[in-house]
Amino acid sequence: MGKKAVFELSDATYNYEGTAGYALDSVNLVINQGDSVSLLGANGSGKSTLLKLLDGLYFSVKGEVKAFGKIISESSMRDNKFSRDFHSKVGFVFQDPDVQLFLPTVWDEVAFAPLQMGIEKKRVREIVSEALNSLGLYNLKDRPPYHLSEGEKKKVSIASILTLDPEVWLMDEPSASLDPRTKGWLIDFVMSLAENGKTIIIATHDLEIPYVATELCYVLGQDHKISARGTAIEILNNEEILLKANLIHKHRHVHNGVAHAHPHKHWLF
Ligand SMILES: Nc1ncnc2c1ncn2[C@@H]1O[C@H](COP(=O)(O)OP(=O)(O)O)[C@@H](O)[C@H]1O
Ligand SMILES: [Mg+2]
Repeated sequence: MGKKAVFELSDATYNYEGTAGYALDSVNLVINQGDSVSLLGANGSGKSTLLKLLDGLYFSVKGEVKAFGKIISESSMRDNKFSRDFHSKVGFVFQDPDVQLFLPTVWDEVAFAPLQMGIEKKRVREIVSEALNSLGLYNLKDRPPYHLSEGEKKKVSIASILTLDPEVWLMDEPSASLDPRTKGWLIDFVMSLAENGKTIIIATHDLEIPYVATELCYVLGQDHKISARGTAIEILNNEEILLKANLIHKHRHVHNGVAHAHPHKHWLF
């Protein structure tokens, strides 16, 4: 028995209104249940756009995007039953917590999704306490999210997804703007999701993520197409792919008084 496909994209393509060219061009890929995937690419290559197609926020302008065997389209997402089921299975941690967090307290924020899903209030209180405790946020529960540090905000946005315990986690540049300690925490968190069999798709240009936390990589090129795919090890060991996708760079620098240039792999500290 093969693994169950979570996402199946054939020629997934997107173009923002009023812009020429595609933000994402003819992407073909299959993501199976339990896969942990880094979606790599330089700024502007289309990573966030692809995540938004996977989350049913945008719709492919040609080809198709299937989730759990069903086509994601404007009309399928308008079907309440389908949309509720989809959103209970797929969680999206936005790059900027300020976009995701909008309620007056951390508690309200984390309670929002389970209340929306119609879960009974008493049960919601338990779920929220558990989520806050497991991320070490309980003592912040009455604080307004917009006054928290970047790391705390990231944890609150993760807690707000954790309450639904989705089987699929989409994360957009989750390690950006985190200090080293919080980044270490995030990597451990991602690894615990993977150990629990979750499907994880992380958009990033931070090569430490595939280096330590995900098994598979897809690379988006400057032409907004998939330029390479493989295991994390295969991709990270392929200097040519990384240079071409602007994920590593060469510049002159000095070792023992002698200047030369070689590619810099910043995930190796
Ligand atoms: N809201 C938008 N309106 C117009 N163009 C956009 C918008 N968001 C992104 N783009 C363009 O789409 C392309 C892909 O962007 P994006 O998916 O944000 O890339 P990444 O996340 O890899 O940095 C870029 O050329 C970007 O300029
Ligand atoms: Mg982005």
